[in-house]
Amino acid sequence: MKATAIIVAGGSGERFGGETPKQYQLVAGRPLLSWTVSRFEQAVSIDRIVIVAGEDFLLYVNNHVVNPYGFSKVAKIVPGGATRGESVKRGIDSLPMSTPYVAIHDGVRPLVKPADIDAVVAEAQKHRAAILAAPVTDTVKRAKDGLILATLDRRNLFLAQTPQAFQYDLIKEAYQKGNQEGLEGTDDAVMVEAIGFMVTLVPATGPNPKLTRPEDLEYITMILERENRG
Ligand code: C5P
Repeated sequence: MKATAIIVAGGSGERFGGETPKQYQLVAGRPLLSWTVSRFEQAVSIDRIVIVAGEDFLLYVNNHVVNPYGFSKVAKIVPGGATRGESVKRGIDSLPMSTPYVAIHDGVRPLVKPADIDAVVAEAQKHRAAILAAPVTDTVKRAKDGLILATLDRRNLFLAQTPQAFQYDLIKEAYQKGNQEGLEGTDDAVMVEAIGFMVTLVPATGPNPKLTRPEDLEYITMILERENRG
């Protein structure tokens, strides 16, 4: 059974600055979010896409991100909330209980490989919860007030990325319980971890940066332009 992608793009991009939210920046001639959506169009494990966007951008997304590119899997565009977690929850709640799996993805990660999306969904189909992650290559220190408190063993450290895929009823329950307890995570797996469930890690096979600061845009643009030159 295939998965529904929930692509969250409801942020205002405060750290990025500028008038246009970062997910709509033109990159290689197209709004960045449209590149992200096209990765999920290409992934065979995905049969439906829900885009979560800010209230004021619903029409924009329809007219400038979806329609010009003829995406066939985009089923709806739903309004987001004040935090990433709220936006994800709104995406989850917009789907019927019969949904088998969801793959939740940051709209600002346009480079994710379709094969990596499929690998995460396949693991979620086996283990109910799986996320894409990158091994840590730098040495990581825990510090306070500019002083090192500990050096962590990087063999046990991973950077959580998206997509993060789950059996639908598991992630729905995790978000409901997390909300009741006031848990606000920076990813989706943490909600599932909080209800005592083990989440499987899938190593990313390619770069999958999250557009956060202006300098990230240069790298993302370079890769997309190179890919589209063929
Ligand atoms: O800002 P952050 O890096 O956490 O954003 C990750 C993703 O979550 C982005 O694609 C952003 O648009 C989305 N988001 C959202 N609703 C919010 C805040 C962030 O959909 N209120």
